[in-house]
Amino acid sequence: MSDSTIRWEQDADGVVVLTLDDPSSSANTMNDAYVRSMGETLDRLEAEKESVRGVVVTSAKRTFFAGGNLGSLIQATPDTTDAVLAQVTLVKAQLRRLETLGIPVAAAVNGAALGGGLEIALACHHRVALDDPKVKIGLPEVTLGLLPGGGGVVRTVRLLGLTTALLELLLQGQQLRPSKALELGLVHELAADRDELVAKARAWVLANPDAAQPWDTKGYKVPGGTPSSPSLASTLPAFPANLTKQLKGAPYPAPYAILSAAVESLQVDVDTAFTVEGRYFVDLVTGQVSTNMIQALWFDLNAINGGASRPSGPERYTAAKVGVLGAGMMGAGIAHAFAKVGVDVVLKDVSTEAAEKGKAHVAGLVGKQVARGRMTQEKADAFLARITPTGDAADLAGCDVVVEAVFEDQALKHRVLSEAEANAGVGGGGPALLASNTSTLPITGLAEGVQRPADVVGMHFFSPVDKMPLVELIVGERTSDEALARAYDVVRQIGKTPIVVSDSRGFFTSRVFGTLVLEGAALLAEGLAPMSVERAALQAGFPAGPLTLLDEVTLTLPLKINEEAAKAGATQEHPGIAVLRALVEQGRTGKSAGKGFFDWQPEKRVWPGLAELFPASDAVPFRDAQERLLFVMAVETARCVEEKVLSSVEDANIGSIMGIGFPPLYGGVLQYVDQYPGGVAGFVARADELADAYGERFRPPAILLERAVPAGSLRAAVAG
Ligand code: NAI
Repeated sequence: MSDSTIRWEQDADGVVVLTLDDPSSSANTMNDAYVRSMGETLDRLEAEKESVRGVVVTSAKRTFFAGGNLGSLIQATPDTTDAVLAQVTLVKAQLRRLETLGIPVAAAVNGAALGGGLEIALACHHRVALDDPKVKIGLPEVTLGLLPGGGGVVRTVRLLGLTTALLELLLQGQQLRPSKALELGLVHELAADRDELVAKARAWVLANPDAAQPWDTKGYKVPGGTPSSPSLASTLPAFPANLTKQLKGAPYPAPYAILSAAVESLQVDVDTAFTVEGRYFVDLVTGQVSTNMIQALWFDLNAINGGASRPSGPERYTAAKVGVLGAGMMGAGIAHAFAKVGVDVVLKDVSTEAAEKGKAHVAGLVGKQVARGRMTQEKADAFLARITPTGDAADLAGCDVVVEAVFEDQALKHRVLSEAEANAGVGGGGPALLASNTSTLPITGLAEGVQRPADVVGMHFFSPVDKMPLVELIVGERTSDEALARAYDVVRQIGKTPIVVSDSRGFFTSRVFGTLVLEGAALLAEGLAPMSVERAALQAGFPAGPLTLLDEVTLTLPLKINEEAAKAGATQEHPGIAVLRALVEQGRTGKSAGKGFFDWQPEKRVWPGLAELFPASDAVPFRDAQERLLFVMAVETARCVEEKVLSSVEDANIGSIMGIGFPPLYGGVLQYVDQYPGGVAGFVARADELADAYGERFRPPAILLERAVPAGSLRAAVAG
């Protein structure tokens, strides 16, 4: 078995330990070599069956098994259906052989077993998992637009019952800690260390010579019953409706396919069930949505986190002490993010008292973790002890990084940055990185307030900081490569994803977010009912409707940005602006005022006055409304690429999904263009139609026209 990805070692008791260890990669995946090796291993087990008393499956990698090979899955298209079906059928048939060999098989799960990894473990009769928080167990396929096609649906539904399997594992792709997997019955035993892990698995196979899977055991009843049992039959009709509600109408095919495969698989014998599951899998994997999601959430995200946009020269940097200026909503969140990873934080506001308010906010977040049992009181105390609230800039001495999050005012920011520059360097490891969390002020202008403009960078966090995974780094005209690399490393240090953009009005995320919410307002002015505006967005896959978003950011913010743009010479005013003005004139500024497009008290409800201000009409078809929201963002992003605000497709896609809610099912705002029916040419033709009907803001810019040829893609354009 040369180049095998599975090592065979048999001990004196006759137990064969199969160690998954792909020599070509740092992780095991279901590549061709795995399929070949598994086939050879099964042949040998069958041939030597008489001398094998049991099998233990484990891994030599940090993770148990990483799962499907995304590099090949992303290439599946409707033209390759037959080959894909053949491959997934073979993988399943092999695992079926493993569980029906007549030899007891136990999995010793030494690291993460997600997707294909858990599917291999599920084909074992017994599962022991290492009790380590790094070990995650689950079937996250749905998060990439897929379903577990290696028997994961069929086996978990039979093992746990339909409802539990769907809700705890399949529909949201939860990644469980070992203790939770044990509680669910997904694994049978936990082990404290690697030796105990394999020892427990060995002991189990030796003690259970007649092991068989529950579904192959006569008289086995699936927990909760099958769709033909009355209790399940009566609740089943509500499942699809609940799913639609949970997805807010977004057209994700995978959850529906999982639901169908799960229900259907329980109505047939196990081998037919595998066939059913395989067909749904092939539908998904050859479809566009899984391609989009794998591209963005796997390849694009990995490229970014792997440093694609980081200058390669400077050495890797780790911050030890950080100053945060302004202890308001954002400053407190930023202090929390640093303290969380063990960095000391000096939290400065106008007075110690004001800074303490920010620290109290952090204490609130940490307290919730303790209450939920996710953090010990001791750790929480140490966490909070890292944050020193102060009103005195001299306390910034020794900080390697300063992030300012004071009010959005250029003169104030100049003052606090220059004060920080003077104090932070004292006694520390050299001049500090000076980062600004501004959401709108140009970084080049902010850098004019300090002695060392090369050290100034934009570090734009999103609210709420503890939940939002993205940070937009903004490179000013004078920002050095060292400063950008430092900023990138610091963002990675706190576990967030940095995208890199250049300095321009609204940078990338705020600028494109602005087009989305203003388009929502324009749709309202053109006669679309408020709830239809919201539904158009939700059913296109946005997490929230534009009018809700406007109320949340407050209506005065886009108005202020519009004013600034006009001062800077912008001549075209977006039609949504007039809508905001009309509301603000009536004191309806948004959620913080309790009233905007919605009345927020006592509960959220559309303000009835909207119907008078903007009489209903059916001038805009619903599909146009949906596409206007998506297109306006895509066209504006293409302009950002053309103006070199953005220089990477990955940054655009991930920034749009993780920062401003662009629907992940399209793979991000530029992937939306490439995947549009007809490719870039199809997108351009439709954008022209929208521009003719609704305004020049939809007119595709030159960078799109250049690529509107059969083989063109925006990804290639930017990469080239
Ligand atoms: P905030 O009003 O909650 O907090 C600002 C804090 O700065 C206040 O605590 C204030 O006392 C303090 N401050 C004022 N002058 C100061 C000085 N001289 N020294 C130290 N602290 C001083 O504002 P928020 O929402 O936290 O925003 C802060 C910055 O973050 C702004 O630039 C804003 O544009 C930006 N931002 C805000 C986002 C949001 O969603 N709110 C998102 C991303 C960026």
